[in-house]
Amino acid sequence: MRYVLVATILLFFSVGFLLSCTTFETDPVTGRFNDNFSGEIAPVADIDPVGTNNFKFVVLSDTHMGSPGGNVLESMLARIQSNGDAFVISCGDNTDNGEEGQYLAYQALFGKFNMAYRSAIGNHDIFFEGWKNFKKFLGRSMYSFNADNVHITVLDSANGVFGEKQLSWLEEDLKAATQTHKIVLTHYPIWNGNFTSVFKLASEEEAAIVKDMLSRYSVNIMFAGHYHGYNEIELGGVKYIVTGGANDLIDPGNHQNYVEVTVNGNSLDTRKVAFP
Ligand SMILES: [Fe+2]
Repeated sequence: MRYVLVATILLFFSVGFLLSCTTFETDPVTGRFNDNFSGEIAPVADIDPVGTNNFKFVVLSDTHMGSPGGNVLESMLARIQSNGDAFVISCGDNTDNGEEGQYLAYQALFGKFNMAYRSAIGNHDIFFEGWKNFKKFLGRSMYSFNADNVHITVLDSANGVFGEKQLSWLEEDLKAATQTHKIVLTHYPIWNGNFTSVFKLASEEEAAIVKDMLSRYSVNIMFAGHYHGYNEIELGGVKYIVTGGANDLIDPGNHQNYVEVTVNGNSLDTRKVAFP
């Protein structure tokens, strides 16, 4: 009887240990994928610009609120608002280290200019308890939404990888999109450009899968940040633009910048805006 008791106790602890290992082994991207689609975080709403299929919006990145570079966003938003752009999308590193106060400051600036915005998640946004704060203040890190005839898909590459689940989700999302124009956004660039490896997605294999997918589904543009500068290339009919210039700490040889996208029916044009 004593052996049965000992065996039961051992079984109890080993099952507990195995379960805790399973939880521990869930990688951060899979963890965020599960959080995004668990029903815990509200879906991201479409944006309805004033002009139908005829509007402008801005893509910028790496505002790093909380670092000295955080000061740039305010003057950029003033310019963006006076240009009549309908909304802003950021490719991540919205905060310098994921602190609640930095998310609040980021949110407050968009509030000050009454500017609609959407944000991707960057590696700096998940420092410390950053994901907890990101989802509280900015919502999902993997989502898509429409602005009239433009479908915009935002991917989570904050850990330098997309993960299998997110790549399957991306394919389903692009397959289902019926809008004239398709744009995909994330933090880490998936192309070579003139970057060293620290500026690119960690997984070359995933980068190849995504490049192929974007071509097959006729995506017009993929935007990224992370590199604090500007880079633009075309691959397989897709334009790839890096615009990580919304901060004070610009990588050598670059200057501050954002990109204005003009939608006019069937045409979609981009313009690099040097700042200030
Ligand atoms: Fe950055």
